[in-house]
Amino acid sequence: MRVLASAPAKIILFGEHSVVYGKPAIAAAIDLRTYVRAEFNDSGRIKIEARDIKTPGLIVSFSEDSIYFESDYGKAAEVLGYVRQAIELVKEEADKNGTGITVSITSQIPVGAGLGSSAAVAVATIGAVSKLLGLELTNEEVGRLGHRVELLVQGASSGIDPTVSAIGGFIHYEKGKFEHLPFMELPIVVGYTGSSGSTKELVAMVRENYEEMPGIFEPVLNSMGRLVERAKEVIISDIDRELKFQTLGKFMNINHGLLDALGVSTKKLSELVYAARVAGALGAKITGAGGGGCMYALSPGKQREVATAITIAGGTPMITKISREGLRIEEVLP
Ligand code: MEV
Repeated sequence: MRVLASAPAKIILFGEHSVVYGKPAIAAAIDLRTYVRAEFNDSGRIKIEARDIKTPGLIVSFSEDSIYFESDYGKAAEVLGYVRQAIELVKEEADKNGTGITVSITSQIPVGAGLGSSAAVAVATIGAVSKLLGLELTNEEVGRLGHRVELLVQGASSGIDPTVSAIGGFIHYEKGKFEHLPFMELPIVVGYTGSSGSTKELVAMVRENYEEMPGIFEPVLNSMGRLVERAKEVIISDIDRELKFQTLGKFMNINHGLLDALGVSTKKLSELVYAARVAGALGAKITGAGGGGCMYALSPGKQREVATAITIAGGTPMITKISREGLRIEEVLP
């Protein structure tokens, strides 16, 4: 038997980092996917084939007669840690510890870009392997197992990434609970800095600073939480689209400033954020853990201009759409 499953990337619209401290956040699944194929093998071991994992930091250099490739294997190895944990957790759940399983992964999501590549690979793996082992899990249950994988690999995690990857759509998330928000097309442009940040290290750095200066960090995290609640009110209100986007844009700019205060922005991220604003975006901010990775800009009627500005500022623009679907079982072959 062979199972192919896929799970989407995500963007956090508001509330990254503060969500780790129990504050709410708003996120959406987007139309970039990771595909995982799972099948049995006779060796009794776990085998992982990473056919195409997009890692940043692939360097190609030429000399007169040769081409050299250097890639960021460390990042790829980090992703494989999530896959291994996901398989082990599902085998434990299904009480099939000695079973040999081979998974092969292909992914459209750049690793370490703040788009939830690790969560998507964990969710797709849990989906494929659980089906292979005959476990009937709901997407919500897969999301919860994905959170356990993140806690095992990362140490700290709010669970928002695996939740949105498993259930899809546009969600409000708080302390493990989620609610779908009314679906709306968001005219956004994602800008990729080309470098990656480690979620584990960035979450740990914020925690260290918080413990050192709780009186300063607490109000910043509280403001982030309040911004998310205000953003939710605006999203579900019936004010017209233009005003909705203007207000959300303002909130995004404030949220970016607060993330900068936490220390997770970089020169490049801020350059892309400012380039997008100058080109007409109503708001722009980091998305995900920061330290490199991606920003996004709300750009109604200006997506092309903002994409060009991001390119000129040295980033890679991606015009993405929200994906209503989360984890998907693509194919089950006998
Ligand atoms: C990473 O996509 C989002 C963070 O808030 C970490 C987490 O929620 O687990 C930085």
